[in-house]
Amino acid sequence: MKFLVINGVNLARTGKRERGVYGAESLEEVNSQLSAFVKAHGHDVDFFQSDVEGELCARLGQAEGNYDGVVLNAGAYTHYSYAIRDAIAGISVPVVEVHMSNVYAREDFRKHSVLTEVCKGEVLGFGKKSYQLALESFWL
Ligand code: DQA
Repeated sequence: MKFLVINGVNLARTGKRERGVYGAESLEEVNSQLSAFVKAHGHDVDFFQSDVEGELCARLGQAEGNYDGVVLNAGAYTHYSYAIRDAIAGISVPVVEVHMSNVYAREDFRKHSVLTEVCKGEVLGFGKKSYQLALESFWL
């Protein structure tokens, strides 16, 4: 199987911003560990990051027919982007929503996701392992 991991706004600064919340490893380090994990299980993975809402929507659209599953951490867009929600609803590829932090233990605005309803499922609160668990869900 082939998967796409998408990271949205501000996630390129993982390892630099709010380390106590998101950890000290860079997104490149996290992605290379994920790549090794997925390949060790006989699958393939691509990565995409953008701070631009429209680019995230376009990449989701391009996933149609090209991937067996998408793992998406939309960052703060999670809480208000109807455009990303519609992009997910508009493809048949299953999308798993991911958050590194436990959004329910944080500010109130983080407790609502406009994406969850159109996602296959959600994994949150396990730091970088949230991505791994989300990917595993496709083959376990
Ligand atoms: C996040 C949680 C969001 O609320 C926040 O805006 C992020 C990261 C997470 O991975 O925990 O940028 O998606």
